[in-house]
Amino acid sequence: MKDIKIAPSLLACDFLHLEDEVKSAVAAGADIFHADVMDGVYVPNISFGFDIIKSVVSVSDIPVDAHLMIKKPQNYIDVLKRAGVYSVTVHSDFDTPDVVRHTLEMIKAAGLKVGLSLRPCFSADELLPYADICDMFLIMTVEPGFGGQKFMSDMLPKIKRAKEIADAADHEISIQVDGGIGADTIALCADAGADNFVIGTAFFKSPDRKAAIDGFRATVKA
Ligand code: DX5
Ligand code: ZN
Repeated sequence: MKDIKIAPSLLACDFLHLEDEVKSAVAAGADIFHADVMDGVYVPNISFGFDIIKSVVSVSDIPVDAHLMIKKPQNYIDVLKRAGVYSVTVHSDFDTPDVVRHTLEMIKAAGLKVGLSLRPCFSADELLPYADICDMFLIMTVEPGFGGQKFMSDMLPKIKRAKEIADAADHEISIQVDGGIGADTIALCADAGADNFVIGTAFFKSPDRKAAIDGFRATVKA
């Protein structure tokens, strides 16, 4: 049986009732919360910041994973650590390779799990120079910036290649997918090698969240 993680993306929740949304997702069987931070510069949208994440951590029984779609992620590692997140993911192209590596090292030095994400235009081999330090590769299956977009099936070979790179490393690297994941796409991603599924719309907008998560798990195992 595949050990998979379901990570509801808070971007799709009802912010007016954040505490209830967090508790409802935990009760439905969520494994991780995925928190998208956007600055309106790296991506053309602004989401929420670190005080919101801290509030989520304070009422959540499960780990919180921060996905940083911002130009200066290195400036916010300490504040995320203090907010109580479990993992921090940055994008491969937010700055030069040296700055990217330094930022990944900062995340690791803070005692947090290290994630590296690729926009759809980048090949999986971009991950190679960083495999030694990463705990997770995040393959975007939509252009980052907005929830509710259509899954890009041409990302499937990239998931496969990322999994090969992960398997060749001397430590465990999880493969996360994000964007358009739901009942129709989760098994395709799992078959390609993903084990960690960020699900926004298909989770929070589902009329029965527990049934939705049970369905996702059953689909992957089938
Ligand atoms: C998009 C975000 C995603 C988003 C996914 O840039 O990274 O986490 O919330 O939403 P859905 O599942 O609706 O595509
Ligand atoms: Zn995300």
